[in-house]
Amino acid sequence: MWAVDTETQLDRIDGILSEVRSEFGDRLCSMSIKEFSSSRLRLDAAVIVCVLHTIPSVKARKDLLRAIRRNVKKGGKLLVDVPFGEPYYRRKMTMERRYRDGYLMGCGSCRTFYKEFDEEEIKSLVEEFGFLFELKLDVRRHHALVFQT
Ligand SMILES: C[S@@+](CC[C@H](N)C(=O)[O-])C[C@H]1O[C@@H](n2cnc3c(N)ncnc32)[C@H](O)[C@@H]1O
Repeated sequence: MWAVDTETQLDRIDGILSEVRSEFGDRLCSMSIKEFSSSRLRLDAAVIVCVLHTIPSVKARKDLLRAIRRNVKKGGKLLVDVPFGEPYYRRKMTMERRYRDGYLMGCGSCRTFYKEFDEEEIKSLVEEFGFLFELKLDVRRHHALVFQT
């Protein structure tokens, strides 16, 4: 199993990864998104939970999906999960917070990006990269969609 994230985040969660490794040993490895983008791991499946809606750049979203497609083997699966309709975010989706195709949230010097995807938008985005929609999981206030290559 591979944990893939930005170099900054992998540094931040180094302690957590070590703890998990002490339980799972070599079955858990980590890799930066930069390395992952040029790898071919032939994975059975990839899972991106609560990630796509936090990425403000359309190009970065597409680069991530392209990298996943490169690393998932033929016949493999992809689970994409993004939240929607959360009252916490809905309240903050105001004109003043509008940024690119989403909203900037947070306060002080800390900002996060939030995009409210609709189901069809995720399907067409993911299918651009050679995945086919397979099924929808019933998760409250989340679009949880399974695709296959
Ligand atoms: C809201 S967190 C979700 C983390 C985890 N999947 C979960 O559900 O708890 C979003 C994660 O996406 C990562 N991320 C942001 N942009 C990314 C990119 N271009 N490639 C890979 N990971 C990215 C962030 O560093 C962060 O760890």
